Amino acid sequence: MIMYLLCIIVTSIKYPKLRFMNNNYSPQLNTAVSAALLAGKTIMRFYSRLENLRVMSKGHNDYVSEADHEAEKIILETLNKAYPQYKITAEESGSNNTQSEYEWFIDPLDGTTNFIHGIPQFAVSIGLCKDGVPILGVIYDPFKNELFCAEKGKGALMNDKKIRVANCSSMKSAVFGMGIPYRKKDHTSAYIETLRTLMDARVGSIRRLGAAALDMAYVASGRLDGFWEFNLKPWDIVAGSIIVLESGGHVSDLEDSEEYIKSGNILAANLNLHKDVIDKLKKDLQ
Ligand code: IPD
Ligand code: CA
Ligand code: CA
Repeated sequence: MIMYLLCIIVTSIKYPKLRFMNNNYSPQLNTAVSAALLAGKTIMRFYSRLENLRVMSKGHNDYVSEADHEAEKIILETLNKAYPQYKITAEESGSNNTQSEYEWFIDPLDGTTNFIHGIPQFAVSIGLCKDGVPILGVIYDPFKNELFCAEKGKGALMNDKKIRVANCSSMKSAVFGMGIPYRKKDHTSAYIETLRTLMDARVGSIRRLGAAALDMAYVASGRLDGFWEFNLKPWDIVAGSIIVLESGGHVSDLEDSEEYIKSGNILAANLNLHKDVIDKLKKDLQ
């Protein structure tokens, strides 16, 4: 209870108008919002002195910095204090091996490559699943101070405003975001095929912004009309998928299956464009 009240206070100070909206939302969502805001503050502290940032390599083109570690520590402390019985899977420290119907998925810093290059497009992403199904999500861009959140059945917000996916129904005027595979080569041909399909359909424009969680938040808020990427991890997409769904969008894998969290292959868009892309991909594969 004390932890919950503390979370509400932290959120209310940063987002006064959100306090009223938050009354409709669960203690879990408020706790996740507080964790994201605290982590964001730490991330910005590191961002303000990037020249001193310690960066380590986890594998080919896969980097982690002390900002990722510090942010994750803060999120884990906040969530564990409030919900010690929940399972947690976090990008940098793995899973806490707890058995629970609830599982948090945490990406403390999505867009690390952008971050270490001083490109201001990165975010904290925290999602919660119940029995494997996303029920709430928070994505916080600390540079722009934009907080996206949603809870199943309760709609989605950016800061204090309700958000909706774009109502664009023509590929020709649509702006899509996507991710380019740069770690493993496994998905190169699938990516090229998808790109070819969209380019053949004369899609309006294609962007590679570099932070998958924010790409999904942008679909939810109508800044992007759609987004696709292969081989993402649950911590990249659990929060984003519920935010897109709650803002009226549609999410599946590239074969229109609902197993996108398992496969990590994802297509998010409004219903019209989603159907259009799936139909075109199917046709091109025949
Ligand atoms: C990455 C970003 C990037 C996407 C990669 C992700 P990270 O997350 O979301 O946009 O293309 O697939 O792994 O490593 O910066 O947390
Ligand atoms: Ca990520
Ligand atoms: Ca990350």
